[in-house]
Amino acid sequence: MDIREEINKLRKEKNAVILAHFYQEAEIQDIADFVGDSLALAQWAEKTEADVLVMCGVHFMGETAKILCPEKKVLVPEEKAGCSLADSCPADEFERFIHEHPGHTVISYVNTSAAVKALTDIVVTSSNARQIVESLPKDEKIIFGPDRNLGNYINALTGRNMVLWHGACHVHEQFSLGKILALKETHPSAEVICHPECRKQIVEVSDYVGSTAGLLKHAKLSDNKIFIVATESGVLHEMRKACPDKLFIPAPPEDDSCMCNECNFMRMNTMEKLYQALLTEQPEIVVDEDIRERAIRPIRRMLDISARLGL
Ligand code: 13P
Ligand code: SF4
Repeated sequence: MDIREEINKLRKEKNAVILAHFYQEAEIQDIADFVGDSLALAQWAEKTEADVLVMCGVHFMGETAKILCPEKKVLVPEEKAGCSLADSCPADEFERFIHEHPGHTVISYVNTSAAVKALTDIVVTSSNARQIVESLPKDEKIIFGPDRNLGNYINALTGRNMVLWHGACHVHEQFSLGKILALKETHPSAEVICHPECRKQIVEVSDYVGSTAGLLKHAKLSDNKIFIVATESGVLHEMRKACPDKLFIPAPPEDDSCMCNECNFMRMNTMEKLYQALLTEQPEIVVDEDIRERAIRPIRRMLDISARLGL
């Protein structure tokens, strides 16, 4: 059986679209109708007219799509594809944290469960967090969760003093400053580019900080020829395709043996599971209607502000 042919046949038969995040394995990115960062995936999900949406990413990305398109069938090829960052912020604990800080506007990164989004005033992604925070009055009191590294980065950029939840992503926390600096010595002209979920010391030595889509755009536009890339290594596939004349080096993790610049959750999706998902229309993402009604408001607010700002 040619799995690519079967996937193509099924997606036509079922009027399905395949969306993939940049952290998916290369074959999945290549067969997807659309590849993007979390903001672009949400924007795409909202406007597609397909009946079935296969989100090749992690669970919260499927949930965001389902919240926006309740009438569509949303599938994620592997139901156990979670997110350590989303898991670092259980809804009941976050709710207590909100009660401890009355009078604060609650901003949540999209890497959260639907239940956390339901407690939120505005959702953000790494593509629009800075602009959305800046769109609020300077003296507005803000809670930002769950990523402390992104929160610290936005605080530093905007001069705000947002109260931060102490969550983190296990992939972005493990890049080694010493090894990145050693690579810079071997390739003095290399630019270091990183995702804002990285720790402060990595952000500080980076020439560019941005979402996965931002990193890709920067790599395309920069005159530089060598890049040390501190984010999940899946994005290198698109970078190498778009810029075959440039050299992209994955930033090394502290532990060389761990393969930990691959997100083990993202990489649970495979071509075989994508095929099975289309065939059986499982596993399907289901969101409780009460949570969905509350969670859609902060997501729509994000999408509206992003559209107004041309993001
Ligand atoms: P993006 O917003 O850049 O897509 O990042 C999502 C993510 O999961 C980062 O680890
Ligand atoms: Fe979550 Fe980190 Fe994986 Fe992104 S890379 S999906 S933040 S665990």
